[in-house]
Amino acid sequence: MEIIVLKDAEKVASLGAKLVSELLRVRPAAVLGLATGSTQLALYRQLVERYENNKISFSQASSFNLDEYLGIAADNPQSYRAYMDREFFDRINIDKDNTHLPCCEDGENPVLVGPRYEQMISDAGGIDLQLMGIGVNGHIGFNEPSSSLSSRTRVKTLTQQTYRDNSRLFSKTEFQPKLAITMGIATIMDARKILLLATGENKAEAVSKMVEGPVSAMCPASILQMHEQVTVLLDEAAAGLLENREYYDWTYLQNESLKKRFRLIHD
Ligand code: GLP
Repeated sequence: MEIIVLKDAEKVASLGAKLVSELLRVRPAAVLGLATGSTQLALYRQLVERYENNKISFSQASSFNLDEYLGIAADNPQSYRAYMDREFFDRINIDKDNTHLPCCEDGENPVLVGPRYEQMISDAGGIDLQLMGIGVNGHIGFNEPSSSLSSRTRVKTLTQQTYRDNSRLFSKTEFQPKLAITMGIATIMDARKILLLATGENKAEAVSKMVEGPVSAMCPASILQMHEQVTVLLDEAAAGLLENREYYDWTYLQNESLKKRFRLIHD
């Protein structure tokens, strides 16, 4: 895992946006794995800004989101489809037909959504770069603690903690789903590269378990230790409990000077 600790959330978003831009420059038809959550908002803002300044184009790109709530329609403002349209897709030049979420249409058997989504990802050639956040309990997508480390896209019940964490985003009168359809852990592990962003003190414990704890289904994000190409971008607060912090900073400096030497850095 490459662990990069930056001063604040804005710097995290800006390096994240730069890494996505670098991918799109070399691979304009990249398949992006996308995520929702408040951490990703700053990243989407920066990507939109880069698009508006003609620094990147999404015209040939396609996307697959990690997850979607089950039980609310796509046109409900609380759906992840609505979030993605509002915060990102409607502001860039991606072809909406090429953007995908594991949505269950009204009346459709939710059990069938997962295998279909897996097939679509595979037909698109697999995910080049999967963006993601991490839940306070170490979940990735909606793979909650105790999820099978070999799981594929399927229906999951949210933990009470996740339900409570996300309740801040729902008004008292709104229906808040307790179920979701999420890419599985094995689906996520199939992505060629993974970029995980975490900011704020409330993520520090999950981050420390993910990076320095044992690989365990009780911290689903810890499986990322087994992936060859993971970059974790953290702000100071989210990195607060990392024991090996000095080494990560030291490694980052070595990698940066190596990249500069071989001119691997662009903006
Ligand atoms: C939700 C999403 C996750 C996301 C998590 C953290 O539960 N399903 O994919 O990582 O929230 O979100 P936030 O960035 O708002 O803390």
